[in-house]
This record gives sequence, C-alpha cells and structure tokens, in this order.
Amino acid sequence: MVDAILWRGTHLDLLDQRILPFEEQFIHCHTAQDTATAIRDMVVRGAPAIGVTAAYGMVLALKQNHGEASFRHACEVLAASRPTAVNLFDAIELMQREVTPLLGTDQAIDHAEQVALKYHRDDLEKNKAIGRHGASFLSGPRRVLTHCNTGSLATAGWGTALGIVRQLHAEHRLVEVVADETRPYLQGARLTVWECAKDGIPHRLVTDGMGGYLMTHKMVDCVIVGADRIAANGDAANKIGTFMLAMAAKHHGIPFVVAAPTTTIDRNTPDGSGIPIEQRPEKEVTHARNEQLTCDRTLVYNPAFDVTPASLISAIVTEDGVHQYPYRFGG
Ligand code: MRU
Repeated sequence: MVDAILWRGTHLDLLDQRILPFEEQFIHCHTAQDTATAIRDMVVRGAPAIGVTAAYGMVLALKQNHGEASFRHACEVLAASRPTAVNLFDAIELMQREVTPLLGTDQAIDHAEQVALKYHRDDLEKNKAIGRHGASFLSGPRRVLTHCNTGSLATAGWGTALGIVRQLHAEHRLVEVVADETRPYLQGARLTVWECAKDGIPHRLVTDGMGGYLMTHKMVDCVIVGADRIAANGDAANKIGTFMLAMAAKHHGIPFVVAAPTTTIDRNTPDGSGIPIEQRPEKEVTHARNEQLTCDRTLVYNPAFDVTPASLISAIVTEDGVHQYPYRFGG
C-alpha cells in the first residue's frame, strides 16, 4: 500500500500524482503556500488526502510564524485551493479550533503537529472500518465497478471505495474490480490501475461510457464510489460521471454504494444544490499530456464533480457503519 503523504517534521513530501504511473517522484512542501499550490495543481488529490495535506500545511505555516495574522492568512490560502472536497474545510476548522487558543505561545507548533498527525492516523483507521462495513454489506463474490481513484493515493491509506475493494479481496470475494478511465483527468486509468497493479488486486480498465453495457451483460454486479462532499440529506458530490453510473445501476437493480469517512459529510448543507462544484481548465478536456486532441477554439465544459441524488444511493458507508435511504446526516 503506497504512502503518498509523508510528514518529515520539517516539511511535507507529497507523491506527485500528476506524473503517475510513469514516474514516482515526491514534491517537497515547506510552507502553507507550497501546500496550497500542491492541492490546487493536483499533486495530491482525493478528498481525505486533501484534508490531511491541509492540516500539515497549517503546521508548516506555524513553523514559519506563529503569530495570529500569519496563521489566519495560511487558513485563507489553503481554503482557496479547491472548493468541493469538504474534508479540506473540516481539517482547517479542526486546526483552527485546536491551535487558536495557543497562538503566540511555545506550545502552538507542537500541539498543531500532534493534531495533524492524529488526523492523518485517524483517516487510515476510518478507511479500514469503511472497508469492513462495506464488504459486509455486499454478500458473496463481487465484480465491482469503480470510478475515479479512491485508494491509498486519495486518502491517508487503504482507501474508501477502494478500501471496500481491498477488503473484498482480502476475504477472497473480489472477482475483479473494473476501473473506468475517469475522463478528463484519468484518475482511474492512471492511478487506480497503478494502485491495483502494485497491490496485486485483480483489475480491468474500461472507458467511462461502458458502465451501462457492463451492467446489462452482468460483467459487474455493484458500483462503489467515493465522495467529495455529502449533504445532510445524502446527496453526494463525486467525480464527474458518478451520477450517470448511479442511474445505470438503478436501472439494472444493482447496488450503488458511496464510501466516505464522516469528515466528508457536510451537515450544514441541506442538499446537493448547495455543494460548490469546481470548474477546471478547458485544456484538461481538449488536450492529453499537452497534445491537442480537438480543433482550435473548441468550446468545452469541465465541471470536476456532479451530484448524485440520495434516492439513487443504495448505501452510504462511513466508519460508523452502513447508512441507508432516507439519509439524515443533519445536526
Ligand atoms: O479531482 P479529484 O481527483 O480530487 O477527485 C477525487 C474524487 O472524486 C474521489 O472520488 C473523492 O475525492 C473520494 S477519494 C477517497
């Protein structure tokens, strides 16, 4: 299982996911600004991994200057890095809550570091629990369709949706996990396939449009995905294309499971219409590895996420257990 986020005490090393699977290189972050840039530029991605990274970014900010104004500025810079994954804001709020009373004292940095390390460890534990709960919800041998990358690269380790896949594999119940490419950023083709190959998990790659065909022909029997933000009513924002898979799963009567730690639940947002959706550069759609694929000046849309209505989700699996419709995550 790969470790993509390495806290070094003086700085943070992040496995550069932009160049996987071709090169395994780490980017070194020494400041909160370096960390925010790494999140914005997708060196690190996946909701839980973004949260853990931001927590360390705040420790780096304090190591540079433990005054209140500078700490507040670091929070703002990190909060502006990506808008959809609520784990980012969860981590920033936790660090603010824990550290603000100590600002200006010698304990601030040490305490911040301990809180960030615990946040990191906790995410790994949560993923393991999600894996166990999710695997017990899905009886028998399974052919799983998944979308995007939700594994060790996207979390503190093990993974959410891919954590359930890992657990099924450990129980000898995984026939195969089918990863779709996940256009345009290719998290499935580049990252999920890489993780599965590294860890000996039986896998296959398909293009994004093939999900319906695979279900019709019984080549997959469930869909498991992650989430970037789950509203109080269970509407779930996840990588663009998730909603279409949920509709196809409903049509075919197969389980559609969302796996996420409770840090991905936004109890203050009543439903999916309030979830901010990141719009990404057009070039991600018109180009592949800097090679232009389309006519010049082609107009494109590139929303990074869509929202799957709660009614299409068979189960939301968190570290607490398996939740089923109707979901009530509000306070
Ligand atoms: O744009 P990304 O790669 O950060 O999007 C990631 C996803 O959509 C994941 O499915 C989600 O963050 C859950 S990761 C455990």
